Amino acid sequence: MTEPTDTPTPTETADRDSTGIDDRADVGLAVADGSTTEAEEIPSSEIVFDVRDLNVHYGDFLAVRDVNLQVRQHEITAFIGPSGCGKSTVLRCFDRMNDLIEGARVEGRVLYHGVDLYDERIDPVEVRKRIGMVFQKPNPFPKSIYDNIAFGPRLSGSREDLDDVVERALRQAALWDEVKDRLKKSAMGLSGGQQQRLCIARAIAVEPEVILMDEPCSALDPIATARIEDLMHELKNEYTILIVTHNMQQAARVSDRTAFFTTEVNSQSDARTGRLVEFAETRKIFSAPDDERTENYVTGRFG
Ligand SMILES: Nc1ncnc2c1ncn2[C@@H]1O[C@H](COP(=O)(O)OP(=O)(O)O)[C@@H](O)[C@H]1O
Ligand SMILES: [Mg+2]
Repeated sequence: MTEPTDTPTPTETADRDSTGIDDRADVGLAVADGSTTEAEEIPSSEIVFDVRDLNVHYGDFLAVRDVNLQVRQHEITAFIGPSGCGKSTVLRCFDRMNDLIEGARVEGRVLYHGVDLYDERIDPVEVRKRIGMVFQKPNPFPKSIYDNIAFGPRLSGSREDLDDVVERALRQAALWDEVKDRLKKSAMGLSGGQQQRLCIARAIAVEPEVILMDEPCSALDPIATARIEDLMHELKNEYTILIVTHNMQQAARVSDRTAFFTTEVNSQSDARTGRLVEFAETRKIFSAPDDERTENYVTGRFG
C-alpha cells in the first residue's frame, strides 16, 4: 500500500539554548534594536516572534495588512482562513522567504527574540538556519534517505558524526524504524507520508528553533495526516511550530493558539486585502470567539 503523496518537509532542531544573544551573534542575528518585546503579561523570554503592523505587498497589490501577533515558544500556532487571505504570505515573513519572490515587499516589523528580521544587517540565510520550513508538497531531494538528512549538516560543516545526526533526526521525525534498513535507498521510493516526515527530519537535522509548515498535510491521506499531527505534538517540546492549515479540525486538534485571517473587499476599488481578524487560544477561537466573522467561519457559515 502506498500512501498518497503528502509529506511535510522536515526542519531542524537548533540548540535549545541557542536563543540567547550570544547565540544570535553566532548566527549573525545580533542586531539589537533596543525594543524588547513586552506583549501583554507574557514574559518576553517566551515570545519567539513579535509581529508588529505587518503589511505585505506584491508590486502594487496590498496582499495583507495590519498584522499584529506574538508567537510563543514551544507552542503550535495555527493560521486559518479562506484561500487567498494571506496565510502563506504571512508565514513566509517569518523566515524571509518573501525575499525570494519578485515584487514582494514587507512593511512593519517581525521581531525574533527582539531582533528585527528585516533589519538590513540581517543575513536571510542565517535566518533560515534558525527557522526551517516544510511545504505542502513533500519535496525530498532525489538522493538517498541518508543524504537528504545529511545535506544541511554537511553544508554547514557540522563536526558531529553524521551517522548520529541522521539517526537522531529520523528518530525525532518518527521515521527511523521504517527506514533504518534502507538509508542508502532513494528517498523518492518512500510513501507520501514518509516523504513528508523525511522533509521534517531534514529540517530538524540543522537544529532550527522554529518550524514553519504550510499546509503540510494537504497532500496526505488521513492516516499519514494523523501521524504528522502526532509528530507535531512531540516536536513542540523542542521546537516552536507555526502551521498554516485550511483544515479547521486540524487547527483545533494540534494548535495552542489560532490566528483567523479573512479577506476584506474594498467596496470602492474592489481591492481584496487579507486581515488578521482574531488571534487567541485555540479553544477560545473555536468555542467563544470575540468576532462574528470568526464565529461564522469556524461554524461553517462563512461566505
Ligand atoms: N507571488 C505572488 N505574487 C502576487 N500575488 C501573490 C503572490 N503570492 C500570493 N499572492 C496573492 O496574495 C494574496 C494572499 O495569498 P496567499 O498568502 O497565498 O493566501 P493563502 O495562503 O491564505 O491562500 C492572494 O490574493 C494571492 O493571490
Ligand atoms: Mg497558502
